[in-house]
Amino acid sequence: MDGNGRWASKRGLPRTAGHSAGEESLADAVRAASKRDVDYLTVFGFSTENWARPRAEVRHILGLHKKLFGRIEELNENNVRVNWIGRPFDEPGSRTPVYVQRAIRNAIEDTAKNTGMVLTVAFDYGSRSELTRAAIQLAKSGADINPENLQKHLYDPSLPPVDVLVRTSGELRISNFLLWQIKSAKIYFTERPWPDFDAIELDAAIALTKN
Ligand code: FPP
Repeated sequence: MDGNGRWASKRGLPRTAGHSAGEESLADAVRAASKRDVDYLTVFGFSTENWARPRAEVRHILGLHKKLFGRIEELNENNVRVNWIGRPFDEPGSRTPVYVQRAIRNAIEDTAKNTGMVLTVAFDYGSRSELTRAAIQLAKSGADINPENLQKHLYDPSLPPVDVLVRTSGELRISNFLLWQIKSAKIYFTERPWPDFDAIELDAAIALTKN
């Protein structure tokens, strides 16, 4: 969800205003995707690298996660089940504050009965950390080392392969996101910053799966 900062700067606003607009855009995208034939929507909310951003910006982004995870009524109305991938809270080096942990747990619990789209938020997520951890766990288990067994040790082994990866704001990079899961994904690049991502863009991204 790139381009929140640039979206704000262009309007003479602080970067945090861009992230707030990004959270609204995400709520819109979740609604729009859940009304289409999307079974899984996975978003990169906060990376393992994002902790290095200025403290006030980190605090603001964490607050926005709490806000998103607090949209329970809306999520339930749209039959959306919340899910999360990222560094486990009990792992050494985990920095996720308790209030974010609680917001994540509550959102998962309060939407667990929904049967529609699965919204997975990647928070404190990095693909290399995920794969390294999976490799260590697989080696420890003593099972054969092969792709099927490695898959079993990902943060969420039940996530299906990605059909389309969306990257906004003219960035033509992957940035350590779902490296295992995007094996055969189509990629939808758009110049638009994330706060301006709308249903027309979503339809164009989904259309890539049809050809
Ligand atoms: C990247 O844009 C965006 C982020 C690091 C934060 C993403 C967070 C949100 C969209 C807020 C809501 C999301 C959730 C899951 C609650 P950038 O800051 O790098 O912008 P720039 O590339 O223009 O500098």
